[in-house]
Amino acid sequence: MGKINLRGVRKTFAEIVVIPGVDLEIPDGSFVVFVGPSGCGKSTLLRLIAGLEDLSDGRILIDDQDVTDFAPAKRGLSMVFQSYALYPHMTVANNIGFGLKMAGMPKPEIAKKVAYAAKMLNLTDYLARRPGQLSGGQRQRVAIGRAIVREPKAFLFDEPLSNLDAALRVQMRLEITRLHQSLKTTMIYVTHDQVEAMTMADIIVVLNRGNIEQAGAPMELYENPRNLFVAKFIGSPTMNIIEGDKAQKHGAPTIGIRPEHIKITRDAGEWQARVSIVERLGSDTFLYVDVDGVGQLTVRAEGDLGAKPGDTLFLTPDPARLHRFKPDGEAFKP
Ligand SMILES: Nc1ncnc2c1ncn2[C@@H]1O[C@H](COP(=O)(O)OP(=O)(O)O)[C@@H](O)[C@H]1O
Ligand SMILES: [Mg+2]
Repeated sequence: MGKINLRGVRKTFAEIVVIPGVDLEIPDGSFVVFVGPSGCGKSTLLRLIAGLEDLSDGRILIDDQDVTDFAPAKRGLSMVFQSYALYPHMTVANNIGFGLKMAGMPKPEIAKKVAYAAKMLNLTDYLARRPGQLSGGQRQRVAIGRAIVREPKAFLFDEPLSNLDAALRVQMRLEITRLHQSLKTTMIYVTHDQVEAMTMADIIVVLNRGNIEQAGAPMELYENPRNLFVAKFIGSPTMNIIEGDKAQKHGAPTIGIRPEHIKITRDAGEWQARVSIVERLGSDTFLYVDVDGVGQLTVRAEGDLGAKPGDTLFLTPDPARLHRFKPDGEAFKP
């Protein structure tokens, strides 16, 4: 079991309020991603859950037990950091089993648990190696192995893939998702990368200045962002935001439309656009265009549109996919 409840969790450092007050229920077995810009309080919130920081106010419950005053080791959680801090002189097997050895577990039992973790992480052939003889991705897997053998109620990951190159990040993303599918243990994963959040999470929690802007399933946030902050943060390339007359026409001071929800035509349409940059990805093309009275917009076309800089195109936003925002940034339906 690994249900985690945050009730009025608040954190201040001296007079600086980092977490004004967070309420959140993390269901047992879920994969929850805390995402938000650098400095928004993701690591602080994770460290509060881990017990590495004391709360300024509020309570933390794990499986309905109040653990607010419990030391980190008593909470039954395992944390994996960006810097994996392996012991360089120890083998992979000893690195994975070190915590169990320190806890006084008998050797045969440690060996069994290490073998199980290694199998989960495709490290079986590397158990006799030392960290210096491993790739970055393998080292990160050893760090995860160390967390697995402790059989925690929940795993806490703090930007575990940030040190890896782009291709390896995608691969490790899949491996962590697969790991979650086999272990079915609660995972809380911190990242500033909204693509990681979208692809890995059951529940995304978008943080901004220590506040939860929105929490929900990835597609829920993508399709129904509650406010401008979430609308702009989730999705790549980002949602087009339009203000002024062309937004008023749709009944709001500010409207948003995603690049893939704009119809492109050659002859006529709602907005006349001049192509400025064409990015061909093969599967699709992103056009960066200028529209009088609107500014620069990003539009996605399937395949290759054959457009080039300087071309004139016409754009029509899909009315069913328009997002409308009040002056304070809250989304509303017409
Ligand atoms: N020990 C500390 N003392 C003072 N300020 C801190 C401390 N730890 C974090 N902060 C501040 O809290 C804010 C949130 O930090 P952090 O949780 O690390 O953000 P994130 O992980 O989202 O990038 C930052 O402004 C940071 O400077
Ligand atoms: Mg951080």
